[in-house]
Amino acid sequence: MKVWLVAGGAGYIGSHVVKAMYDAGENVVVLDDLSTGAEHNVPDRVPLIVGNILDEHTLAGVFEDHQVEGVVNLVARTQVGESVELPLAHYHQNVEGFRVLLAAMQRAGVRKLVYSSSASVYGMPDVDLVTEDTPCAPMSPYGQTKLIGEWLGEAAHHAFGMDVINLRYFNVAGAAAPHMTDKRVLNLVPMVFEKLTAGLPPEIFGDDYSTPDGTCVRDYIHVADIASAHLAATRFLREQHGVARTFNVGQGRGLSVRELIEVITMVTGHTAEPVVTARRPGDPAKVVADATPIQRELGWTARHSVVDMVASAWQGWCLRHPEARPA
Ligand SMILES: NC(=O)c1ccc[n+]([C@@H]2O[C@H](COP(=O)([O-])OP(=O)(O)OC[C@H]3O[C@@H](n4cnc5c(N)ncnc54)[C@H](O)[C@@H]3O)[C@@H](O)[C@H]2O)c1
Repeated sequence: MKVWLVAGGAGYIGSHVVKAMYDAGENVVVLDDLSTGAEHNVPDRVPLIVGNILDEHTLAGVFEDHQVEGVVNLVARTQVGESVELPLAHYHQNVEGFRVLLAAMQRAGVRKLVYSSSASVYGMPDVDLVTEDTPCAPMSPYGQTKLIGEWLGEAAHHAFGMDVINLRYFNVAGAAAPHMTDKRVLNLVPMVFEKLTAGLPPEIFGDDYSTPDGTCVRDYIHVADIASAHLAATRFLREQHGVARTFNVGQGRGLSVRELIEVITMVTGHTAEPVVTARRPGDPAKVVADATPIQRELGWTARHSVVDMVASAWQGWCLRHPEARPA
């Protein structure tokens, strides 16, 4: 039986990728060291191999035991701030780990790859809509490792015929089910939830950007839509040969921080007025995807609204913080 190997499939995004593929009838096997992921994120019927992609013996065993059609690689250290403090750890995990995985794929004759990249590869783009041709200038070691990962996959494409799709995710939030929400407080949605739960006003980092309401504009996308993009990518790779492509995965629509906070207060029933504090260094004014290439070429579109995204994230938050619901 042919399977897709999902490396990092017990993590936040990976578990949604596994669910989307499994629900669509694909055979999936997960490899994850559970360093940030969790066993309960993987459906019971999906085999979970607990192991490290840096360990070539583990990888050899996985490729021996399973007839792997292709690999989705989501493994990475993901925290931008941490990457500034611990760049070598990020390079080791995100670049060396991926190199070891690619070498194992080469040895096993596996030639299909979907790679998790990120809009962070663009850095501070000064354009209205970011296309895949917008120059990349990552601002952090994390963003650098994501870009190098794209290059590694493309080099494998040229050297030994790896078919590759790089997916550059924009601002991901939400969950397909409450227990699948991201438990970390790393992006605006949980940051605002955290403030509201503590009875504090949400923070806006600067309102003097050159955007319509002065606050930063981002492209928010529901994690279930990110997951369905992977399903579309794996099916495209099944049909196509000689492919090395990179796609933005976003809604193609921007929302300002102030607008997102309005959606959050509407969904949660909390009414705190935000406070404006200083800009954060390195925050670009606007990062919105041109998402037309992935729509045109993979037939993928985002199906969930920002309200769905926030509401699903809020359900997960309240599961872990029952005190968060307004009286
Ligand atoms: N979360 C976002 O907003 C976002 C945005 C853009 C791109 N990405 C990318 O998406 C991918 C998944 O991110 P996430 O937010 O789900 O993070 P996550 O930490 O939830 O998922 C990573 C998974 O990889 C596993 N893992 C870590 N090191 C491993 C190793 N050496 N061997 C095997 N498994 C290992 C972890 O246990 C975890 O299950 C990453 O590549 C990240 O760079 C995430």
